[in-house]
Amino acid sequence: MPESLKNPTEVRKISKGFEKASVEEILRWCWNRFGDRAAIGTSFQGAGLVINHISRSLGCNFPLFTLDTGLLFPETLELKAQLETRYGISIESLIPEQTVQEQERELGPELWNKKPNLCCTLRKVIPLQKKLSNLDVWITGIRREQTAERSQAGILELYHFDGIMDRFILKLNPLANWTRDQVQQFLKKHDIPVNLLISKGYRSIGCQPCTRPVGAHDSERAGRWTGFDKAECGIHTFLGANI
Ligand code: ADX
Ligand code: SF4
Repeated sequence: MPESLKNPTEVRKISKGFEKASVEEILRWCWNRFGDRAAIGTSFQGAGLVINHISRSLGCNFPLFTLDTGLLFPETLELKAQLETRYGISIESLIPEQTVQEQERELGPELWNKKPNLCCTLRKVIPLQKKLSNLDVWITGIRREQTAERSQAGILELYHFDGIMDRFILKLNPLANWTRDQVQQFLKKHDIPVNLLISKGYRSIGCQPCTRPVGAHDSERAGRWTGFDKAECGIHTFLGANI
């Protein structure tokens, strides 16, 4: 990573400039500096698909990865295969150390019902940490309107990685300013395949045991971890505060 981008003041300045830039300009900036040291993490919901589509149309061929917990819906896996065919790419699946069965044998059945934070740590956060240790930029589909926690997200953010002071990671949220409607319109206009569960009332889709359909007026992520005081799986919080 260039030395200047390890400087929080410099990163904040660039991020501020990005507020007025187009997504295309932001993605080109990233590709020109980092190439495949930057990668798109996606759960195949709207934002990640938009970022992937724009990137590829610009020739910014960022690798894609997904956290496959072993508990995803068949519809999600089907969409992954469809996208690989449509774009002629291979999307890396990051898998946890233990299968669901192994986890069950060691920690008991349905850990997600008892200790969802531990389950998310084992099945999402640790595999992501491993992946990020080989990257300079993690490109995400975070949007500010999604949750109160995300309302402060910067377009470019700098973090210490794993508490190591001289190891840094940048997080790029190119669609931070986009609304859900903008994302939906983009997908429609470009005929990008979407998760079939959306037409069944699901608005935010994660693992099967922790996702349920919601009403049209519920908040976007209301269907995740119903019954728990939990709105994040930990992948957007484990890095701590941005610097
Ligand atoms: S979103 O697609 O509706 O925005 P969500 O709000 O859960 O999903 O996550 C926000 C961002 O976190 C995604 O855009 C993506 O960058 C990242 N993310 C979430 N889940 C995964 C996953 N299973 N694999 C890889 N990245 C993920
Ligand atoms: Fe486990 Fe649910 Fe987290 Fe998936 S979303 S890793 S099933 S707690």
